[in-house]
Amino acid sequence: EKAGYKHFMLKEINEQPRAIRDTTLGRVSLDTGKVFLEAMQLTDDDLRNASQITIAACGTSWHAGLAGKFMIERLARLPVEVDYASEYRYRDPIADPRAIGLLITQSGETADTLAAQAELIAKGSKTLAICNVVGAAITRKAQGTLTTNAGPEIGVASTKAFTAQLTALFVLALHLAQVRGTISDEESLHLVTELSKLPGKLASLLNINSPDAPGSSEGVAAPTRLSQNAGHNKNVSFRPEAQSDLSGLTQNVSSRPERSGVEGPPHFATDRRSTTRQPLSAQCEELARLFHTSDDFLFLGRGIHYPIALEGALKLKEISYIHAEGYPAGEMKHGPNALIDESLPVVCIATKDPNDPSSVLKYEKTLSNIQEVTARSGRVIAIAIEGDTEISQLVEQTIYIPQAPELLLPILEVVPLQLLAYHIAVRRGCDVDQPRNLAKSVTVE
Ligand code: M6R
Repeated sequence: EKAGYKHFMLKEINEQPRAIRDTTLGRVSLDTGKVFLEAMQLTDDDLRNASQITIAACGTSWHAGLAGKFMIERLARLPVEVDYASEYRYRDPIADPRAIGLLITQSGETADTLAAQAELIAKGSKTLAICNVVGAAITRKAQGTLTTNAGPEIGVASTKAFTAQLTALFVLALHLAQVRGTISDEESLHLVTELSKLPGKLASLLNINSPDAPGSSEGVAAPTRLSQNAGHNKNVSFRPEAQSDLSGLTQNVSSRPERSGVEGPPHFATDRRSTTRQPLSAQCEELARLFHTSDDFLFLGRGIHYPIALEGALKLKEISYIHAEGYPAGEMKHGPNALIDESLPVVCIATKDPNDPSSVLKYEKTLSNIQEVTARSGRVIAIAIEGDTEISQLVEQTIYIPQAPELLLPILEVVPLQLLAYHIAVRRGCDVDQPRNLAKSVTVE
C-alpha cells in the first residue's frame, strides 16, 4: 500500500509532481493560455461582478488560502479575505450576495469549514469549494467545485493535497483574471507555460529515482556533505530543471495519461566544492541529524512566502512535536528577535523571481532580516533559488530550489520543508503517519 516507502507521508511527498500535473491537466490550454474550469452554477458575470472573495479553511488548507490571497489579488485585482473557518461565524461576518465564499478543504468533511460555509450561505453568498474528495459534504452545498486531483492522502500531515490546493488556487486566480480582464493574453500564456513546467521541476527537485524511492540504490550510499559551515559558505546546487512534461498533455484535454508517475531526469543537489551528488532528501536528512534535538524552530518568509513559513512550522510541530513558529520576516524586530540565540535554528525562505521587481525587493529585505538573525548567532537554514551565491555567503546552510515565477514558487519551496519535518520526526522516533492527538479528518467543531 505504501508502494515500498517507509511511510505514507514520504510516498505522498514524492507523488507531488503527479498531483500537480493532474490538478492542472484539462484546465489550461498551452496554445492560448486560457483556463477552462469545470461547469459550475456561478456564471462569468457572477465572477466579473464579485465584490470580494472570502476564503475559509483550517490548518494546512488555511495556509493555502493565505497564499491564494496573493495569487487572486495580484492577478485578478479582487479583494480577498482569509479566515480560519473555526473563527468565521463567531465574528458576525459581513458578507453579501456579491461576495463569493471559497472553502478550501482536503477532506471536504471538516466540521469548522462546513460551518463557515453554512454561515456564508445564510448571509446570501454563493460558495465555491476546492476539495480533494469527489462528492464530499462541502461540495454538495457549493455552487461549484474545483477538485484537486491529488489522490487519496493517508498521512495525517497534509503534503500533496497542499501543493494541489496551491495549484488549484493559481488556476482559479488566472481564470478570474481572464474573466475580469485584468491580465493580458501574453501574460496568461507565459504563466500557463510556467505552470506546465512545475511537475518536471518538482520531479527533478525530488529526484524521484532517489534514496526515498523503493528499490532504488541511487544516493543511498552517497555521503552527505551538508557539514556545518564555519565560514558560512555552504554551496549546493541543482542541475538544470527538467523540461515540462505537461507539453502535449495540456491542450485542454480531458483524458488522463495512464502512467501515474512523472519522470524527469534525476535532479541532484551538488556540493560544488566536492562535486558529490546530493539528493534533496539526503540534504534534509543531514539537516535532521544536525537539528533534531532542538527545542524550538523559527520559520520566516515575506509576502506569499510567509504562508509557506507557517506551513513549514505546522509540519514540524505536527509530526516531530518540536515547538515551531512561522513568522513574517519583517516582524522579527517587533518582538521575536529577542528569542534568537545560538541554539535556535531559523529556516528562512529567501527565494526570488529575478524578473519581478516586487519579488526582488522582498528578497533584499529578507536578506537584511537574515543578517539580523546571524548577527545574533541564530543558525540560518535558507531556502533559495538555484544559482544564488549571495545567500550562501551569509548563512550556515542553503537548500536550493529551481526558478519559477513568484506566485508559483511556494509549490517548490514547501517541498524541502516537508522533507525536513519528515526526517526530523523519523530521527525522533515519532509516528510520522499518525501523530499523537490528531485525526486526518476533524469532523467535530
Ligand atoms: O481536510 P481539511 O483540509 O479541511 O483539513 C484541515 C486541517 O485539519 C488539516 O489541513 C490539518 O491541519 C493537517 N493535518 C495539517 O497537516
